[in-house]
Amino acid sequence: MSDQQLADMGEDAVKKAYARWAPVYDLTFGVIADAGRKHAVRHINTLPAGRVLEVGVGTGISLPQYRRDHRITGIDLSPEMLAKARERVRKEGLDNVEDIIEMDAGAMSFDDASFDVVVAMYVLTVVPDPQIVMRELERVCRPGGEVIIVNHFSQEKGLRGKVEKGMARFAEDLGWRPEFPKETVMVCDELRLVDERPMKPFGLFTMMRFHKSSETAMQSAAAQA
Ligand SMILES: C[S@@+](CC[C@H](N)C(=O)[O-])C[C@H]1O[C@@H](n2cnc3c(N)ncnc32)[C@H](O)[C@@H]1O
Repeated sequence: MSDQQLADMGEDAVKKAYARWAPVYDLTFGVIADAGRKHAVRHINTLPAGRVLEVGVGTGISLPQYRRDHRITGIDLSPEMLAKARERVRKEGLDNVEDIIEMDAGAMSFDDASFDVVVAMYVLTVVPDPQIVMRELERVCRPGGEVIIVNHFSQEKGLRGKVEKGMARFAEDLGWRPEFPKETVMVCDELRLVDERPMKPFGLFTMMRFHKSSETAMQSAAAQA
């Protein structure tokens, strides 16, 4: 997919798409994507209590699943999706959710190294510039912390590759890009891939876990010199 095609999926298109999705999201994509979401949160729940940032938190469908000693911040671009998330936090009394904020994942206002875990589920195929967002996930994660993504990655060949190519022109209406090669997310020097596994249904989605190096680039250059 060309840079132009990726860039075409702009902020306005995303906001419009998710204003339409918000009322029906939990009963549609919410169900289809349940397995990957649960798997990622189950893993986070094995980690020591810490600050977790959920990027593209949407309707907050995963928020009740976090262990209550994790402190969660959620951000999203869509006011309609966030309204659902806030309602859920209130109704379910999720007092470990510290903040739900309207914010662009590509330009987050958090300081460097603010979170122990940064997770983005079904988001990178949606954002206007996935590579900038990957670098932001890396930046706000503390050294030694984890960045976790769950995403659909496209295939070059076979029936699935053909279907994805055919669907690419509907990206704006769908609110995500069917054509999205894995290399798009492999852009961060300080993130080392430690686990990658297919998720239900039918391995359509992939969970990737990255460890953020506990050395800065300068420290590792100095160590090698
Ligand atoms: C497919 S939904 C996934 C929601 C949720 N993570 C889940 O597991 O169901 C994608 C979400 O990403 C949000 N999003 C898209 N672009 C964004 C951006 N640049 N910054 C923050 N959120 C964004 C959309 O508004 C939408 O809520």
